[in-house]
This record gives sequence, structure tokens and C-alpha cells, in this order.
Amino acid sequence: MRHSLKAERIGCDAVSVDGFECGGHPGEDDIPNMILLPRAAEELKIPFVASGEMADGRSLVAALSLGAAGMNMGTRFIATKEAPVHQNVKNALVAATELDTRLIMRALRNTERVLKNANVDRLIEIEREKGDRLKIDDIHGQVAGIYPKVMIEGEMDAGAWSCGMVAGLIRDVPSCKELVDRIMGEAETIIRSRLMGFLDGVGAARKVA
Ligand SMILES: Cc1cc2nc3c(=O)[nH]c(=O)nc-3n(C[C@H](O)[C@H](O)[C@H](O)COP(=O)(O)O)c2cc1C
Repeated sequence: MRHSLKAERIGCDAVSVDGFECGGHPGEDDIPNMILLPRAAEELKIPFVASGEMADGRSLVAALSLGAAGMNMGTRFIATKEAPVHQNVKNALVAATELDTRLIMRALRNTERVLKNANVDRLIEIEREKGDRLKIDDIHGQVAGIYPKVMIEGEMDAGAWSCGMVAGLIRDVPSCKELVDRIMGEAETIIRSRLMGFLDGVGAARKVA
């Protein structure tokens, strides 16, 4: 909320609000989207999109119902045909579950959610050994210059790279068009059948009462 309000204050037209679940840097306050998005809706005058854990039509309807104008997808879009990354990265996202991300660099107040791998396990061991004395130099080998190795070379154990918990909802590698069309179709079905059905049920219950 602090960052969103600052963005609004300095003249941004809209913001992308990232919950604790997101891939990358969620900040240090650990507020998940079920709380953060309604708080954003309460405080912000500019529009915002929900970011973090967004994957499908369910995410979109939830984001809209919590006050967002839409959603932003990071991790989900990496597992698409067009994403310019090595196939190993896409395969890793399909294989990963919601249990497979780790938070690193908390002691440096630079918390990052990444996909677990051999070098991330090593990094976490170093963090445990060093505790509050951790310095960036202690984990340089696990965090610096990793992206080209992972994303271009496909070396999945090279080190830490951002990945959201939403990996647990990624089961295929569609084209971006297939993905967006599917999301819109799912959202429409949820609104028409589940939500309208809910309203019909409430109406029927009221009549009976
Ligand atoms: C591989 C990867 C790299 C990212 N790099 C950046 C970055 O350089 N700067 C940034 O502000 N956010 C970055 N992000 C965060 C995204 O912009 C977005 O906020 C986040 O992915 C949303 O959460 P999700 O992954 O659960 O969809 C990155 C995310 C991923 C997965």
C-alpha cells in the first residue's frame, strides 16, 4: 500500500499491485492478495491491476471482485509458446507445484520468491549459517548473472530466478492467444453459471422465506 500510494502521489495513472504470492520481489510485509487488493481498492483513487498468483479465469474473476480493474501475469506468461526462454524453463514451470518456490535474501531486506533448485538449496544453507550477518557477497554465486544461464542456456540448477507460487496452477504451454482466450472463456462461464447461479439461489431462498 505504501508503494501504491507513493506511485499515485507522484502522478502514475495506474499501478500493478503485487501480493506476497508473486514471483520476484514481494517486499517485506508478506500481505497476500486476498487482503492487499481490497485494501488497494479502499485507498487508491487510480485504477490498479492485481498481480501475483494470477493464472486463469478464476484469478481474473477474483481480481475483479476484490476491486482490481484487471490482472497482470508474470510467471504464467513465461510458460507460453511465444515466451523467448529455453524450453527447460517452460517444462520446469509445468512440473513445479505450489510447494516449490522459496523466499531468499530476507536478511538483506531484498526478499525474492524463486523456484527451488540445487543452487537455491545451497543459498538457503548459506543464509542459515550466516543469519543476520549475511552479506550479498556470501551468495553472489547463487544470484549474480544467473538469468542468461537459466533463460537462454536452460541450466535449471544455475541459481535463483523469480517464480511465483502460481506455478502450481500451470499445466501446459499454450500460445498467448490460446491462454487469453481460455481465461476470458473461463471468466465468462464463472460469472454466468456460478455467480449468476448464486444470485438465483439467493433470490429463490428469499422467496421461500
Ligand atoms: C522471471 C521473472 C522476472 C521478473 N523480473 C522483474 C523485474 O526485473 N522487475 C520487476 O519489477 N518485476 C519483475 N518480475 C515480477 C513481475 O513483474 C510480476 O510482478 C510478477 O511476476 C507477478 O507475479 P506472478 O509471477 O505470480 O504472476 C519478474 C517476475 C518473473 C517471474
